[in-house]
Amino acid sequence: MRIPKEIISEIKNKAPIQDIIGNFIQVIKKGNNYVAYCPFHDDNNPSLHISVDKQIFKCFSCPPENKSSGDVFSFVMKYKHLSYVEAVKLVADMVGYQYDFGDTKIDTFEETITHKIMREAVNYCQYELNSKEGLLYKEYLNKRNIDNTIIERFQIGYNPKEDKLYSFLSKKGYKDNDIIAASLARLTNNGVRDVFFNRIMIPISDVNGNPIGFTARSIDPKVDIKYINSTDTPIFRKSNVVFNLHRAKEKIRETKFVILAEGPMDVIAFDKIGFQNTVCSMGTNTTKNQLLAIKRFTNNILLAFDGDNAGQSAILKTGKDCLQEGFDVLVLNNDTKYDPDEIINKYGTKRLSEMILKPKTWVEFIIEHYKLSYDLDNYTAKREYTFKVLEEIKKVKNNFDKQSYINKLAELTGFNVAQLASGIIGNETKKETQRISRPTSSLQSGIEIAQKIILKQLLFSANNINIYKNQLGYLPNKQFDDIAKSIINFYDQNQYIKLGELLAEIDDSQLISLLCEIESDKTHCEDEDEILLLDSIDKVKEYEIELQLEKLQARMDNYSDENMQMKVATEVVELQRRLNELRKNRR
Ligand code: UTP
Ligand code: MN
Repeated sequence: MRIPKEIISEIKNKAPIQDIIGNFIQVIKKGNNYVAYCPFHDDNNPSLHISVDKQIFKCFSCPPENKSSGDVFSFVMKYKHLSYVEAVKLVADMVGYQYDFGDTKIDTFEETITHKIMREAVNYCQYELNSKEGLLYKEYLNKRNIDNTIIERFQIGYNPKEDKLYSFLSKKGYKDNDIIAASLARLTNNGVRDVFFNRIMIPISDVNGNPIGFTARSIDPKVDIKYINSTDTPIFRKSNVVFNLHRAKEKIRETKFVILAEGPMDVIAFDKIGFQNTVCSMGTNTTKNQLLAIKRFTNNILLAFDGDNAGQSAILKTGKDCLQEGFDVLVLNNDTKYDPDEIINKYGTKRLSEMILKPKTWVEFIIEHYKLSYDLDNYTAKREYTFKVLEEIKKVKNNFDKQSYINKLAELTGFNVAQLASGIIGNETKKETQRISRPTSSLQSGIEIAQKIILKQLLFSANNINIYKNQLGYLPNKQFDDIAKSIINFYDQNQYIKLGELLAEIDDSQLISLLCEIESDKTHCEDEDEILLLDSIDKVKEYEIELQLEKLQARMDNYSDENMQMKVATEVVELQRRLNELRKNRR
């Protein structure tokens, strides 16, 4: 079932883009429109523009390959890593639009004749694999440790003879032209013949799980072409399809990373040992469109190609493409020359799991990989090697990592650290300040502002964090306190503060938008200001004392017992004394 177009436009009409985006990130009114710090890259100025008239957004500084523009649904898809339908549902939910979506999963899906043929073909091949004729092929699979459960899960099949699948489809009433268009048959001198036969048939599905093509493996070592794949059809474009993405997508979201392998057999191998978040592009050349399809579900990619030279070179190329598309890249710590499937069979499951769980960072991979092509005992080669590695270090986002890679490179090459670092280590904490006047809502009470100032000051420096820890250590408002705790946790772990990374560690979207709002609020403070911090800490303390005083007062009124009244009165006097002291200090 699909969501009717009218419903989609009704939802859209009820969901002003500026409000929806404003729910996730802080938006600032500018004339008739809005601007915001773009959440899709490290933005120093509010480069994301929202047009109220056109109901679209566009970031003017996102790199062109990472296009950030579109309507309200595009934003939500990109921001929350959702499919189109999921985004429509979420937006409907946000604006309280009542509609029974049932189990609509498929995005404006229209079943074509090719889809029907593909479904039939998958079923037929599965059936054939379980027949007597399929026995040899089944044995082959079992020998590769692919048992019946996996065969079922991946809908693996077999087509025995060069006209069997075609005859089956013909008998079912499908026209030759349609079967040929599905890339299952072709016209030969002997009439219409199957494209795939005597091969293991592994279906390739679209992201919603509809079979759209096949990759087929010969089991005969003498056959030259090990795998053949469907050629492009009306519903299958090999360069856009990611194998197994429909099965892996939920697990990818859950684990927050994806494993990209070379071939289906590797995907199956990973799946078998518990990494169901694995996909492949069928061959080493992963296209930009394939990366974008993956990126809908995560920004973290782990490249798990073969250990041979071809595989490692493919990592170099694909890794660079991934970085361009905005992924964080890790590399399987494969110290063998084998592919993941072979690693399991040769060394066991544990070895492969370890390779995944202790991956190399991108720069670690680069440092080792380029070492193979340069003789570091030769000055000129060593210099070129250094430049190549520096090129990759430059792309690293945070200064701490940058610095440690530079140290490592210096150690390796004997070049001087300062020389390597020049021009590479930037000043990341100081943002270009741009004054945006924003009216302060009258609802924001003094205490709320004080807490926001404290939070904002925490983002500026370690010094401020220490002051806060020693002098206060909590905030009265639960949400603010949660944010403060996240900041301090993050700082304790990393010894630096970077908003982008910090946000990634916070799960609660409300806290995220609150923190973004605080960070970009220039009304109350723009720069690091220790006095302002101390002042705000005192305000919070005053507020807390005032609150306690109020409570005591109420209690005192309820007591008839004189002794109790005296006791409370002493407490009140003490609190008043502390309050006066605080006020004196502030003056
Ligand atoms: P490999 O030669 O590494 O195959 O090619 P593999 O994945 O290890 O497959 P098995 O384990 O021998 O069964 C990597 C990928 O390149 C594509 C396939 O998608 C394959 O998985 N390929 C390879 C082809 O499309 N055609 C070929 O003839 C060979
Ligand atoms: Mn293999």
